[in-house]
Parts: sequence; structure tokens; C-alpha cells
Amino acid sequence: MLWSSSLASIVVLAASASAQLDGAQSPPSYPSPWMRGGNGWQDAYAKAQAFVSQLTLLEKVNLTTGVGWEGEACVGNTGSIPRLGFRGFCLQDSPLGIRFADQASAFPSGMNVAATWTTRLFKSRGRAMGDEHRGKGIDVQLGPVAGPLGRVPAGGRNWEGFSPDPVLTGVAIGETIKGIQDGGVIANAKHYIMNEQEHNREPSGSFAAYSANVDDKTMHETYLWPFADAVHAGVASIMCSYNQINNSYGSQNSYTLNYLLKNELDFQGFVVSDWWAQHTGVASALAGLDMTMAGDQGLASGNTYWGGNLTAAAINGTLPQWRLDDMVTRIMAAYYKVGRDTARVDVNFNSWSSETYGYIHPQANEGYQQINYHVNVQSDHAKLIREIGGASTVMLKNVNNALPLKKPKSVAVIGEDAHDNPGGPNACGDRGCNTGTLAMGWGSGTANFPYLIAPVTALRAQAAKDRTLFANVSNNYDLDAAAKAASNASVAIVFANADSGEAYITVDGNSGDRNNLTLWGNGDALIKKVASVNPNTIVVLHTVGAVIVEDLKNNPNVTAILWAGLPGQESGNAITDIIYGYRNPSAKSVFTWGKKREDWGVDVIYTPTSNPPQLNFNEGNFIDYRYFDANNIEPSYEFGFGLSYTNYSYSNLQISKNDPGPYQPTVGMTKAAPTLGTIDKDPAHAEFPTGFRAVFKYIYPYLTGPVLTNQPESWPAKSQDGSPQPRVGAGGSAGGNRQLWDVMYTVSCTVTNTGGVKGTEIPQLYLSLGAPTDPKIVLRGFDDLILDPGESNTFTYKLTRRDISNWDPVTQNWVISPYPKTVYVGASSRDLKLKGVLP
Ligand SMILES: *[C@@H]1O[C@H](CO)[C@@H](O)[C@H](O)[C@H]1NC(C)=O
Ligand SMILES: *[C@@H]1O[C@H](CO)[C@@H](O)[C@H](O)[C@H]1NC(C)=O
Ligand SMILES: *[C@@H]1O[C@H](CO)[C@@H](O)[C@H](O)[C@H]1NC(C)=O
Ligand SMILES: *[C@@H]1O[C@H](CO)[C@@H](O)[C@H](O)[C@H]1NC(C)=O
Ligand SMILES: *[C@@H]1O[C@H](CO)[C@@H](O)[C@H](O)[C@H]1NC(C)=O
Ligand SMILES: *[C@@H]1O[C@H](CO)[C@@H](O)[C@H](O)[C@H]1NC(C)=O
Ligand SMILES: *[C@@H]1O[C@H](CO)[C@@H](O)[C@H](O)[C@H]1NC(C)=O
Ligand SMILES: *[C@@H]1O[C@H](CO)[C@@H](O)[C@H](O)[C@H]1NC(C)=O
Ligand SMILES: *[C@@H]1O[C@H](CO)[C@@H](O)[C@H](O)[C@H]1NC(C)=O
Repeated sequence: MLWSSSLASIVVLAASASAQLDGAQSPPSYPSPWMRGGNGWQDAYAKAQAFVSQLTLLEKVNLTTGVGWEGEACVGNTGSIPRLGFRGFCLQDSPLGIRFADQASAFPSGMNVAATWTTRLFKSRGRAMGDEHRGKGIDVQLGPVAGPLGRVPAGGRNWEGFSPDPVLTGVAIGETIKGIQDGGVIANAKHYIMNEQEHNREPSGSFAAYSANVDDKTMHETYLWPFADAVHAGVASIMCSYNQINNSYGSQNSYTLNYLLKNELDFQGFVVSDWWAQHTGVASALAGLDMTMAGDQGLASGNTYWGGNLTAAAINGTLPQWRLDDMVTRIMAAYYKVGRDTARVDVNFNSWSSETYGYIHPQANEGYQQINYHVNVQSDHAKLIREIGGASTVMLKNVNNALPLKKPKSVAVIGEDAHDNPGGPNACGDRGCNTGTLAMGWGSGTANFPYLIAPVTALRAQAAKDRTLFANVSNNYDLDAAAKAASNASVAIVFANADSGEAYITVDGNSGDRNNLTLWGNGDALIKKVASVNPNTIVVLHTVGAVIVEDLKNNPNVTAILWAGLPGQESGNAITDIIYGYRNPSAKSVFTWGKKREDWGVDVIYTPTSNPPQLNFNEGNFIDYRYFDANNIEPSYEFGFGLSYTNYSYSNLQISKNDPGPYQPTVGMTKAAPTLGTIDKDPAHAEFPTGFRAVFKYIYPYLTGPVLTNQPESWPAKSQDGSPQPRVGAGGSAGGNRQLWDVMYTVSCTVTNTGGVKGTEIPQLYLSLGAPTDPKIVLRGFDDLILDPGESNTFTYKLTRRDISNWDPVTQNWVISPYPKTVYVGASSRDLKLKGVLP
């Protein structure tokens, strides 16, 4: 093992960062960068400009502003342009399938697909989800997620994203975006940024939303990294988060939006607020927000920061026309970028009612008509869901080949988590309960299950096929019944879970974030009881993240542990595939399994001690395995760990150097901001048309009072300036300076299947960047190699300039440090089989 830690330097770093971070401020950055149409956006930009040029002021404003909560069929809807027959945008949750729809699939969570470490599956899942959203008429799928990244293991929404490792998340989010957008739907990378816990994410009572405070180096090397990959992949929209960053709200922070996202990462799409995350009018537009959702100031408040207020600000000149035009151009460019102009069908479902007939404006109970057409968009996606379910199941323990099962004489399946929710899989709205088997967390990041195969159903069917005696017990608290069923079985399979979700629902006292890292509903006691009577106890865990498993790991009667995460609708079939060896486990853990809660070094702040609550990310880049490694903490199971029914060997590490030439910071000036068409500044032309019948509580672009012109105002310097601006050295291309993707080294090795069955191995490449302030190692690349027994194949990874660089806050650019850099290839973050120094 390689962990002789330079702990002292890290402690010093943390202490000095702590002093700086409390109350940290974001520097102002203006003006808001206007679209330039580079990097694969040229066509979309040209089409968007042509479209926007013909719009009136009111029509432009209509596309920027949501019509208010439950104003139309989707969870978010913008105004429309009736004159051109252009309907408003439909934005719909969620990251794992369509929320609030029937005849649609419930996919495995983001965390699960990450655990496959298979780029093909990242993309296929994205494509399948994109196809389903397209079929329902949705313009914007509100996913995938890279915020939360997963800083704290108890964070309620971690499972919606991929992994606390920024590189794994970066690859997963990029491929998911490509898949969704290939399906003709705008992907939405969210929640930008550092939305790492649910407690205090929004203002509540006298408390403002928390401020997540992070230093510039950590921002670039950890939290911004996957968003850079999202932009590099061409993501057409990004959602800004509820929380504050350095004491400025995510939807009006000019530094995170204007500087980091639109300037440095050269993001060309549009920024939409999380629902009611907007807290100002003109200020948020100048800070880089392009679309507000749900459009109303608060849930069904009937008024808006934009809409008529934005129209007034454009008329009196406080909002420059170039900024409004840029907002709308970005929105329309996203539309053309993914081919919505040819892919669009009518919205044929309704989020607010499952009935065929109902109100098209549910908030107002107006417009009774057919609202659900029950279009079946599932195609054959069940196959993919089952495949990902199996390919994401991590085998943590398997003693004496306990698994796979081969026609055992008798099986006992125990635990509520193996069984159906008696009320059906959608009995609790937004999955806001933990009843029956757990296949997704709760909150807006959910979908309705078309069906859910419980483990007991699939395992019972397998037992019938094998003539295996079968018993099952669903009550976690009836330990006697569990022991009775288990004691006579040749194998006992115990299912247990741990759930979490979004803050607006509290389940068993957990307000989004988990209160603990143990199993729910007597799970630990149940397993212990079964294992006390059955020496061949197999444990299956459906959890939203790490739980404390050290006792299970050390219990000699627990012969196998499988982590199945949140596998979606094919749960039971997918786990049966693994347990019976129809699929050889290949998944690797996407997070670290600590032995105790304190091992992570960071945690949720449940009770704020300041206002706004200050979440100081003092640990910097040292989250998850990077913290464990730096502090010599031995986990139960490390990041990247996972067993197989076969074995693999690694050999023949080769490193070759490439010379792409020196790094050139981007220089020069942008063009001046364009304006498209002229704005009619006559307030009389911006009033409600005569005879217009407004829908109750609906948000419109029309003026509702006189246009103010003499208000005392002091806008940030340059915020209204549309003249040419200097380009950013680290920017200039999608995701950052294009030379960051220069290949510097090619690393390869041979991987051989030395066991008796076919399998897929996930070789992982880690890098030591070498400085005392760097983590021991950081993940940089991986692949999935399918190998027959005895077969070898080559793992190759091309290390880019970005991979081997650190962020330098002084020069505001990426630099390759002078420290020697060591590359490792292995089967986990602590099983580094091969090692070489970069020449
Ligand atoms: C937050 O403040 C820290 C400390 O001053 C600074 O290093 C960092 O760049 C700031 N980040 C943002 C997004 O404002
Ligand atoms: C704005 O959108 C609303 C809702 O779709 C629509 O009723 C209204 O006519 C639109 N206004 C303009 C000026 O297009
Ligand atoms: C404009 O904003 C003000 C201040 O928040 C609010 O009182 C008013 O209702 C808004 N106007 C509209 C048309 O929503
Ligand atoms: C066994 O599973 C079935 C569903 O397959 C369920 O109805 C039954 O209640 C379970 N038995 C026990 C004892 O929990
Ligand atoms: C185990 O099986 C035996 C014989 O089949 C039976 O007599 C005994 O009662 C069973 N024990 C339990 C705890 O069910
Ligand atoms: C942890 O929380 C879950 C869910 O609220 C609960 O079922 C369990 O009993 C808790 N564990 C402990 C040790 O309190
Ligand atoms: C393991 O199972 C045997 C019964 O087969 C039991 O005697 C023993 O106490 C169990 N061990 C534990 C740690 O539960
Ligand atoms: C893998 O190799 C280890 C160590 O040589 C051995 O104990 C184990 O049985 C092998 N497992 C398989 C599935 O071949
Ligand atoms: C222009 O109108 C907006 C929206 O009502 C208002 O916030 C702003 O203060 C006005 N500007 C001036 C100079 O009065």
C-alpha cells in the first residue's frame, strides 16, 4: 500500500482555507458573455438568430419566463408565440425517467449507471431516456446531475448524480448528455453548483439558504470539473442551484454564471433557475440567468420577477437589449442544436392528473379537455434497464464461492426490501415513503414505475424452475419468523435498504438527507438474526449510498454481500441474473464504504449556526477516497472495488509520450454583443391586448403598471456593457481551452481473464499529480473489457493535458506542476497493480 501520508500539510491547508472561507464572497464578473456560436453551435446559432430577429419584445420575454406553477402540462412551461404557431417550452423532470407520466420507463439511478463504469451504457441509457421524453413532447429533460457530486455520504440527492469522483461523474454526465440530445431532447446539467446537501438549501424561516464556500482550486479540480465535461459534450442547458455560493445565490452569482460557466467554459446554451431559486429581477439577468422557472416568484404566487417586470426593464433600458436578445438566442439555439425543430411532437401527457380528461391549466382549473393521450414510449427499454441493473450490482463479498447459486435445495428470501409495496410501486407520491423494495429514492428526481419486479417475484420464479424449496418473510420486525424460515434453508438471502431524497418530503424523520448511515427499518438486526441461524446468509443492499457494513463484512455467516443500489423497474430480474450467475458481476463501487460515519471527515450540517449558514468546504479536493487515502483511514470497501465470478491479471504497462506543443492561453477580444431586431419601447404596445382573457395566476409578459424610469439604481460596473470583451485564457472552447484535451501520454496494459468464466473487467487508471497538496491519487480513466476465460485484451487510456494539470489560482489557468507524476492501473483505488512514472 502506498499511503504514507503527508497529513501535516493537509491539516495546515485545511486550517488556512477555513479562515478564508467563512463568509467568502464571489467577485463580480460582468458583462454577461453573449453567445458566439462556436464549437458545434454554428448552425444552431444562425438559426436561432434568424428566429429571434423576427420576435417582438413581448415574444422574447415570453420565452424567458415560466407561466407559473401548474400553469400548463409540464413541471416547467414557458410562454408561447401564438403569432408564429410556436408553443412554449416544456421542461420535465427527471434524471432517471419521466416524472408524472404513464407508459414510460423507470430507469436505474445515475449512481447505478455510474457503477457499471461502462460508457456504452451511460450513453444508451441517455438515448433511451431522450427517446422517451421526445415521445411525450418534452423539450428539456431536467437531468443529468453533477450537483450534488456527493461530498457528504448522507446527502439526500447523491443518488440522482453519479459519484463523488469528478472524473467518473464527468464521463458519465457527458455520455448521458450525448445520448439524451441524440434523442432530440435538450439535456439539462444540474444543479449548478455545490448543491451538496438538502438541509437549508432554500431560505426557510429567518434563515437564508446556505452558502457553500469553496476555494478556487477545489472549484476547478473537483466541483466544476464534471460541468466542464457537460459543456464539452455540448449540453444545451444548465440549471442553477438553490444554494448560495460564496454568499451569492446560485441564480444570480455573476462569478459562477458569467465568469466560470459562460466565459471560462464557453457554455453556449441557456441557464434556467431551479424552481423558485431566483430572488431578483434585472440583477439575475445581468448575472447570467436566461430562463426563470417556474416563472412565478413563489409557488403559485401569481407574480413574477421577470414576465411583465422584464418587459418594463427592457423598455426603460435597465436591461440592455443585447442581454435580452442573448437570453432568447441561447434558448432557441438549444432548441435547434438538438433538432427540436424536426423532433418536436405535441405535449401529450399531463403532470398534474393521470386522468384522460382534465384541466390544461390545472392551477386555475381552466381549459377542460383531453390532457393525457397515454402514449407508450417504453419501446424495449426494459432490456437495457435489466442489463444496467445487473451491470451496476457490486459484489462486495463472496466467500467460498457462495455465489452464484446453483439449484440450491432450499432458499429463504427475507426482508421487506425483497417485497412489493402493498399499495403498488407508486403508492407514495414522488416515492416519498420507504415501503417495499427500494428501486429509486424520493423527490423530483423520480419517475412513476410502469411496473416494478420485486426480488421475491423473480427469485421465486427461479426457485420454481430449479425445484428449489422456497420460503419468504417480508416483516423486518418479526425476527422469529425470519429465523424460522432461514434456519432450515440451504441459503438465506436477506434484503435491506437505506433511502433518501429531496428536502420537500420527510420520510421517517429524514428531511431529504439521511439522518444516519445505517440500514433502515431494523435491517441490521434482521441480518444479524438470520446470520445467527444460517451460515450461508447472502445480503443484498438497496441503498442510496454508503451504509456501515463493517459488521457484515466480518460476520463469517454472511457469505456474500451484493450492493444493488437503486436499479429501477427491473430490480428483481436484475438481481436474480447476478445471484444465479446469468450475469457475472462487473460493477465497481462509485463511493467509499467507511467503517464509521466520522471516517468521511465531512458531514451534513443539520442545524445552522450562522445566517446564512456557512458550509465551508475546508477539506478542499479531499472528499471520499481522497480523504481516506490522505488520512490513512482504512475503509470497509474502497472506491472502485468490486468482485467477480472470475479473476483478472494485469501486466505489461506501457507509457508513451506525445508532444502536442506548448499550451497557449486564449487571447484576443470577443465581438460586440449583437442585437436582433428592434425593441418597440412604447409601453402602450406592451399592455394586455384588449379583450385578452388572462388565466388565473398565469404569468404573462405584459405590463401590469406604469414603466418606472427614475428609480435610483447602481448596477455593477460593466453589467450593461455590450462592447467587445477580453477572452479568458483558460477558456475559448467548449469546456475550457481546447488544448486541455491535447493528448500528452498514452498508457496501456494487458488485462487477462485468469478464471473459469467470461466476465467484464473495469481497469482503472489513477494518477498521482505529485505535489504535497495533491491527493495521493486521482482517477483519470477506465474502460470495460469483456474477456472470455484465458483471453487478454489491451486497456488504453490517453492522458490529456487537463488530466495532468492543476488549477493555478494565481495565473487563473491550468498548469503542469514540476512534481513527478506517477500513473497506476489497477482493479480499485487500493488495488493498484501496475505503476509507472510519466517520462
Ligand atoms: C469563493 O471564495 C474563495 C475564497 O476567497 C475564492 O478562492 C473562490 O474563488 C471563490 N469562488 C467563487 C465561486 O466565488
Ligand atoms: C405569451 O405566452 C402566453 C402563454 O402561452 C400566450 O397566451 C400569449 O399570447 C403570449 N404572448 C405573446 C405576445 O406572444
Ligand atoms: C414585479 O416585481 C415586483 C417586486 O417583486 C412585484 O411586486 C410585482 O408583482 C411584479 N410584477 C409582476 C407583473 O409580477
Ligand atoms: C411472501 O411473498 C408474497 C409475495 O410474493 C407475499 O404476498 C407474502 O406475504 C410473503 N410472505 C411472508 C410470510 O411475508
Ligand atoms: C426444519 O425442518 C425440519 C424437517 O423438515 C422440521 O422438523 C423443523 O421443524 C424445521 N425447523 C424450523 C425452524 O422450521
Ligand atoms: C437510521 O435511520 C433509519 C431511517 O429513519 C431508521 O430506520 C434506523 O433505525 C436508524 N438507525 C439508527 C441506528 O437509529
Ligand atoms: C453462524 O451460524 C451458526 C449456525 O450455523 C451459529 O451457531 C453461529 O453462532 C453463527 N455465527 C454468528 C456470528 O452469527
Ligand atoms: C481468484 O483468485 C484468488 C486468489 O488466487 C482465489 O482465492 C479465488 O478463488 C479466485 N476466484 C475465482 C473466482 O477464480
Ligand atoms: C426599469 O424597470 C424595472 C422593472 O420595473 C425596475 O426594476 C427598474 O428600477 C427600472 N429602471 C429605472 C431606471 O427606473
